[in-house]
Amino acid sequence: MHTRTLGSDLRVSAVGLGAMGMSQSYGPNPGDRDDMIAVLRSAVDLGVTFFDTAEVYGPYVNEELVGEALAPVRDQVVIATKFGFRIEDGRPAGLNSRPEQIRAVATASLERLGVERIDLFYQHRVDPQVPVEDVAGTVGELVREGKVRCFGLSEASARTIRRAHAVHPVTAVQSEYSLWTRDPEPEVLPTCTALGIGFVPFSPLGKGFLTGAVDASTAFAADDVRTAIPRFTAENRAANQTLVEHIAALATAKDATPGQVALAWLLARHPSIVPIPGTRHTARIEENAGATRVPLSADELSDLDGLAGRIGVQGDRYNAHHMSLVDK
Ligand SMILES: NC(=O)c1ccc[n+]([C@@H]2O[C@H](COP(=O)([O-])OP(=O)(O)OC[C@H]3O[C@@H](n4cnc5c(N)ncnc54)[C@H](OP(=O)(O)O)[C@@H]3O)[C@@H](O)[C@H]2O)c1
Repeated sequence: MHTRTLGSDLRVSAVGLGAMGMSQSYGPNPGDRDDMIAVLRSAVDLGVTFFDTAEVYGPYVNEELVGEALAPVRDQVVIATKFGFRIEDGRPAGLNSRPEQIRAVATASLERLGVERIDLFYQHRVDPQVPVEDVAGTVGELVREGKVRCFGLSEASARTIRRAHAVHPVTAVQSEYSLWTRDPEPEVLPTCTALGIGFVPFSPLGKGFLTGAVDASTAFAADDVRTAIPRFTAENRAANQTLVEHIAALATAKDATPGQVALAWLLARHPSIVPIPGTRHTARIEENAGATRVPLSADELSDLDGLAGRIGVQGDRYNAHHMSLVDK
């Protein structure tokens, strides 16, 4: 797979792998822990060199899983992780990006990942109680100490990105972005382009919906995160199906899959965009990586650009609580 560059010099595969679903969010795993380690290792064999985890995934166990799986190929991969949630009784309980907390998480994440340096350390959510200058300053110190290589932000506004970047260079911003979630387009993406910051779309497959694998009849497990997302009520899934049918028709015409079209559209938006689809299946890693070989014509791109606006997506991408954590 070809590579892309985030920021000035973080080289990663054009499509990465999100590991979150191996520890939470999407219902029971299709296999045990050893199976997930095998899936992560198969990603490397398929050319993926960019892996995404976080302290809060699990919490904690996802970093351990990713660290163990990638230990044999440590020098060939880039591992991104995140700080910024307060974790109580094994659950996220608000935000905490105070400098001493960032330092404590860095130490613990290094240990759990089994690495000497965190390649990319994102603030998971902007903490309104802590000026982002203090966050950037603390991560900058960790960079100078050799514990962190690059700094990132997640779901940060353009203004916050500029403030942080003025203190320590931001290498990548990670926010939700896909054919049906276009929030970063007006301000965040132009800001990243202007400042030379990479952009990493999370949930690039619309939490599975854009692949066509989910429809109004899909029964989610009780702990599946989609049960709490307005866009995924049965009624809204039925309404949003038109979007997937359109993507699927284009995919068929191009001998590709709907998920590949969704990822190819993101890749075509800008050369420093690197999506991180999440999956627990090697075959789907291979399919998703194949998006790099799906060229979209100017007409196809413009058709996809206007799709969500023409059809009208029903339901918010987050519930009110999760929306309140997004930096405005
Ligand atoms: N910064 C943040 O706040 C934040 C928030 C959310 C996610 N993330 C990161 O972004 C990564 C990706 O986001 P996401 O997992 O939420 O959403 P996503 O990548 O849009 O979708 C994941 C879902 O799609 C399914 N899937 C993946 N490839 C498929 C394919 N080719 N065909 C059919 N179904 C497919 C997966 O199921 P299977 O696993 O069963 O294949 C899973 O249910 C996460 O793993 C995480 O690392 C970050």
